[in-house]
Amino acid sequence: MCGIVGYIGKRDAYPIIINGLKRLEYRGYDSAGVALYDGTDIQLAKTKGKVADLEALADRKIKKNGTLGIGHTRWATHGVPNDVNSHPHYSQSGDLVIIHNGIIENYASIKKELIKRGYTFTSDTDTEVLVNLIEDVKKNEKVKLGKAVQIALNQVVGAYAIALFDRNKPDEIVVAKLGSPLAIGIGEDEFFVASDASPFIEFTNNAIYLKDEEMAIIRRGRDVKVRKIKDDSLVAPYIHELQLNLEQIEKGGFDHFMLKEIYEQPSVIKDTYRGRLLANKGIIKLGGLEDYIEKFTNADRIIIVACGTSWHAGLVAEYIFEDLARIPVEVEYASEFRYRNPIITEKDVVIAISQSGETADTLAAIKLAKEKGAFVYGICNVVGSTISRETHSGTYTHAGPEIGVASTKAFTTQITVLTMIALKLAKVKGTISHSDYMLHLRELETIPAKVEEALQSDAHIKVIAEEFKNARNFLYLGRGYNFPVALEGALKLKEISYIHAEGYPAAEMKHGPIALIDEEMPVVVIAVNSNHYEKVVSNIQEIKSRAGRIIAVVTEGDTLVKEMADYIMEVPHTPESLTPLVTTIPLQLLSYHIAVMLNRNVDQPRNLAKSVTVE
Ligand code: F6R
Repeated sequence: MCGIVGYIGKRDAYPIIINGLKRLEYRGYDSAGVALYDGTDIQLAKTKGKVADLEALADRKIKKNGTLGIGHTRWATHGVPNDVNSHPHYSQSGDLVIIHNGIIENYASIKKELIKRGYTFTSDTDTEVLVNLIEDVKKNEKVKLGKAVQIALNQVVGAYAIALFDRNKPDEIVVAKLGSPLAIGIGEDEFFVASDASPFIEFTNNAIYLKDEEMAIIRRGRDVKVRKIKDDSLVAPYIHELQLNLEQIEKGGFDHFMLKEIYEQPSVIKDTYRGRLLANKGIIKLGGLEDYIEKFTNADRIIIVACGTSWHAGLVAEYIFEDLARIPVEVEYASEFRYRNPIITEKDVVIAISQSGETADTLAAIKLAKEKGAFVYGICNVVGSTISRETHSGTYTHAGPEIGVASTKAFTTQITVLTMIALKLAKVKGTISHSDYMLHLRELETIPAKVEEALQSDAHIKVIAEEFKNARNFLYLGRGYNFPVALEGALKLKEISYIHAEGYPAAEMKHGPIALIDEEMPVVVIAVNSNHYEKVVSNIQEIKSRAGRIIAVVTEGDTLVKEMADYIMEVPHTPESLTPLVTTIPLQLLSYHIAVMLNRNVDQPRNLAKSVTVE
């Protein structure tokens, strides 16, 4: 939930840390801080607010020199966001300085012990407890920093990615990981530390991703020694060659990352099926799936676990798996599943969907499913993420880095992968005719062009946004495959515009939500050509006769709904099972424009974070 950055080498650390924090700000942005060490003085600046506020403070407060530095951007867990609770934190002696992403669950009992031993605390954070525990161990056991970190971490329960240094060791940074991500960039005589590789991508393509319960001692101009926290044994780390480039993590001329990411969908959907879907040959080949097809075809059922937007992609998958592959599917909120004592057997296949691959609840659901003997398949966007490593097998979406906190391209690429899996299984099981299978493959290949076409309504959607931007509530309705799209449309609007919005199956409207409808209430109805078209038209009539204002997503050329709706947003004709890939687009744009018109922080909406590594 927080972002951490570190540098040790020959360059000035400050600009590297600040730029890195800006790239990681999507992970949390309620406070930020930096500590620099030039071998003589430690300079520390931290503040409530964003990285820009930190820069302003650093300009006034510190010299900004030093070739060793650590920085942090925070999403508060313990202690309100204020200057004191911001990271980095000093130990009591002022010798150790730490940054931390995660939660130390047993911090209260450790704090009590430390207070008995004479420690005092200035902040409410669990992190200050951790740094003092390390200092206490170092003093009492008379060990070096690395050893003290190892001993201390064996006493804590929780999740962490930490980086710290010691005033007495100007050429060393110590890092450790459990639960929260931590990458070490390896340059020439210089090393970088970060929550993901984006802060150091212009400096090096080589990175070590620490595994859970590993720590590393990074020595300036020398080496990185990775050890297991449990028993101190040395580990030979695997050095990854990174595929990221700088352009991918910059805005590329768009006003916001969210808009850039909405517009990237034609190309990333293509990237996601490229080399995996050969429509003219009738082939779908997913590396992670080929060896496990029988697990799926013999499964009693598929259980999908995910959170938020990824959960909505799971709901779309429920329709497509049951419809095409005739495999029973249950879609679960990971947070409920993990605590419900669910019935899971070896005959179940669990699919975990996660953009970040770090979501704590999804990860816990995976662990539970594995303990019960289920086969667990992951669909993640971030390569090397924890979920991608914890699952038995899986398929990556190729959406590229998603920086906007509101998920857009991750959703459509997740649906692309899930659709390919469903089609593959349907073909193997014989639950789809050859002609229908071939039609789906060909149609899937046309989706990027159709998404491109849907994006062309952008200017028109802006007009609709202007008309409705002051509404206090929105209702989103859809049926069948487009019910999850209604949920996703409502989530997108509420998270970035702060307007209350609810998604409902259109037919459920008459069981309650219809009471809300009056001339003040915009109702977004997904009314594309499908098996449900007539029924959705009836729902629109019901809204009209109560004076509700209708914004309808319709298939190009539609005349019936056009006559009834106040506004329409057209999408190209698509087979019903693939409609979510196109109907989602106007809803993303509508939310985006309303949020911009309301002056919201579109890329970093309040209270949210991109990667939810706490439960
Ligand atoms: C909404 C959004 C969240 C995430 C959810 C799961 O726009 O981004 O609802 O979908 O936090 O995150 P991942 O997919 O990273 O597990």
